[in-house]
Amino acid sequence: MMYEMKPEFYTGIESIDQEHTRLFELAQETHELLDNDILQDKSDSLVHLVSELINYTRTHFSNEEEYQKSIGYAHLKEHAAQHRAFEARLSAFDLDSIENDFKKQNETVQSLLTFLMNWLVNHILEEDMMYVKKK
Ligand code: FEO
Repeated sequence: MMYEMKPEFYTGIESIDQEHTRLFELAQETHELLDNDILQDKSDSLVHLVSELINYTRTHFSNEEEYQKSIGYAHLKEHAAQHRAFEARLSAFDLDSIENDFKKQNETVQSLLTFLMNWLVNHILEEDMMYVKKK
C-alpha cells in the first residue's frame, strides 16, 4: 500500500481515525486506477471514484463537524469552510468532457490523486490536529 494512514495521522478519536483510513483507501484506489495500464477507458471508474469521494467526505465532514460542536471547538466555522472548499474543488473536476479522451482521463486521475493527497495530509496534520489538541 502506497497511500495509507501513518502514525502521525491518528487523532486518537476512533471514529474519526476510521473515516480518515477510508479516505486514504480511496486515495490508494485512485493510485491503482492511475497505474492500471490494461483498462483503456477509465471514464466509468473515474466517475465512480469521484462520486464515492464526494459521498464519503460528506459523511466524514458531517461527523467531524458534529464532534467539534460537541466539544465546543472555537474554530468550527473556519474548519467547516475548509470542508466546503474541498467539496467544491472535488465537484469541479470535469468528468463529462473527457469521456472519450483516454489521455485526458489519465491526467485527471493524476491531478485528482495529487489534489487528494496534498489536501488530506495537510488538512489532517494542520487543521484536524488543532481540535484534537484542544479537546
Ligand atoms: Fe478530517 Fe477536517 O477533516
